[in-house]
Amino acid sequence: MRVLGIETSCDETGVAVYDSERGLLADRLYSQVELHARYGGVVPELASRDHIRKGLPLIQEVLEAADTPLQALDGIAYTAGPGLVGALLVGASLGRSLGMALGIPTLGVHHMEGHLLAPMLEEHPPAFPFVALLVSGGHTQLVRVEGIGRYQLLGESLDDAAGEAFDKVGKMLGLAYPGGPRVAALAESGTPGRYEFPRPMTNRPGLDFSFSGLKTYVRNTLAEEAERSADGEVSEQLRADIARAFEEAVVQTLVIKCRRALQQSGLRSLVIAGGVSANRRLREGLQAMVEKERAQLFYAQPRFCTDNGAMIAYAGCQRLAAGEHDDLSLNVKARWPLATLPPLGQLRA
Ligand code: KG4
Ligand code: ZN
Repeated sequence: MRVLGIETSCDETGVAVYDSERGLLADRLYSQVELHARYGGVVPELASRDHIRKGLPLIQEVLEAADTPLQALDGIAYTAGPGLVGALLVGASLGRSLGMALGIPTLGVHHMEGHLLAPMLEEHPPAFPFVALLVSGGHTQLVRVEGIGRYQLLGESLDDAAGEAFDKVGKMLGLAYPGGPRVAALAESGTPGRYEFPRPMTNRPGLDFSFSGLKTYVRNTLAEEAERSADGEVSEQLRADIARAFEEAVVQTLVIKCRRALQQSGLRSLVIAGGVSANRRLREGLQAMVEKERAQLFYAQPRFCTDNGAMIAYAGCQRLAAGEHDDLSLNVKARWPLATLPPLGQLRA
């Protein structure tokens, strides 16, 4: 089965073709980062308009690269949520109208299921069951995964998502949007141990997270350092030290909770997915932890950690191949809890 995947939930237009026999045939990503950079975050209306501009040309480009004429497609998958409704509607309209014109089934895919399954595109994919840590700009969740659509939420962030905290701290440090990768880069030249930030919610039981206090900690530290300095500015080195302490605190908090999730579930495989799973220190910290726990760590290559069309084509292909498809209504969802998804092959109500 050959499936076209379309991702437009936020500020990246991602398109890919996945073939159940031959794997990923082509994928392209158009990032709107420059468009939103001067506003310091994503402007939803601008995002929608740009998806309209980029959607069709990108689809054409990917089909050519995949050597796949429209008639060779067996299905179309698009992101139906969670995300920005206007942006989602662009991808949904493209996918649905193409599907209707070609007389092939379409399916609205859950964005976080896409992330969750992205490591399946790698050479050594994880086997079910496993514990998944989903860490993106909008979500921080620990999930027990028995199979596709068999998800049990173990814990989640009570306030900011990990990526969101990275982005907000990036802003405080004067870095451009999105802050995550830039905070990580700045932390490289930071002095380890110069500051010690708290590891929120790790000294009580449970698998929930909270990152907003950590953000306040960064703000206060910056303010104290500014007050202490002669010119009221915080030096590049101190900002790097703060970035390092922040990153370390987030990573260690995630490592502690992942270890706890593995121990409590008795599972031996940990999958990390979503934009923050591209973070090198997080990967290293988790790798060291799973080795001690005699477990295994799985993640996607960096370009499939952040938003992309390949993960939507892959997730859509699994479900379309199992007989799932859209009904006649056009439904996109800003909010959509992952655990409400049906098991593979079950048509949605
Ligand atoms: O999964 P994603 O592309 O979009 C959402 O579904 O939200 O995740 C984007 C998030 C942003 O907050 C970005 O700053 C963060 O992932 N991110 C990182 C890194 N790369 C992306 N955070 C920390 N370190 C990174 N290397
Ligand atoms: Zn995402």
